[in-house]
Amino acid sequence: MTLPGRSAGDSAAGSLGWVTSRSEGAWDRAAQGYARQEHLELQAVRRALDFTQPRFDERLLDVATGTGIVLRELARRSTRPAEAVGVDTSPAMLARLGALPTGWHAQHGDATRLPFASASFDVATVAYLLQLLDAADRGAALAELHRVVRPAGRLVLVTVWSARPAARAALDGLARVAPATSAGLRTHDPRAELARAGWRLERAAALHHGYPSLVVLARRVALSQAGSSPPRASRKAE
Ligand SMILES: C[S@@+](CC[C@H](N)C(=O)[O-])C[C@H]1O[C@@H](n2cnc3c(N)ncnc32)[C@H](O)[C@@H]1O
Repeated sequence: MTLPGRSAGDSAAGSLGWVTSRSEGAWDRAAQGYARQEHLELQAVRRALDFTQPRFDERLLDVATGTGIVLRELARRSTRPAEAVGVDTSPAMLARLGALPTGWHAQHGDATRLPFASASFDVATVAYLLQLLDAADRGAALAELHRVVRPAGRLVLVTVWSARPAARAALDGLARVAPATSAGLRTHDPRAELARAGWRLERAAALHHGYPSLVVLARRVALSQAGSSPPRASRKAE
């Protein structure tokens, strides 16, 4: 997930910088070098898929699909959904997706205004987007995910995070002092927001190979049940 800084001259290659979600055109510029750092995402992406275990008869949505690491990893699995859709706001990221299995496709779409009918997916995945969004957009994205995933459907999120406070402080410090290149490295734990947005937390794991990451599995509940009792997983990652 090596991403460029905000200036057009920054190149994706060799930088640990991430841009925020609304940096105009930044993800299009990042697309070319993006694959070079995908190995740093692999452990967390695989854990996310282990957590969700999408079945053949399920429909999956991958939000902020980027160059398709989640869909590619899923396509390799012996059990995978017959239908999967990736959405992203960057045409250049989507252009690098490569061939997808029959029945799968990718399209332009914004996490805060998902172009899908309500309750039209069984499972949703979102890898390395939420820490890029401001609070308002995160709220909108979680609300949209709640709308498009069916009742009792599953959501798995991957964000930059570390169980080690010193590592979190280092990442957040880097994001603060060098926002042009590292704003997206700020850490984010989505669990409290998830619980308030109508998701019951089921599992969480903090991983430290590659990007320090938090993987969270949640199940859609009615908004009236949202945040009623803090689930065990919200307190501690595995
Ligand atoms: C860090 S990359 C993650 C891509 C992919 N999920 C991965 O793990 O490699 C963030 C992606 O989010 C996309 N993105 C940023 N803001 C978005 C939004 N509001 N809605 C959908 N995608 C967005 C960017 O274009 C970029 O492809």
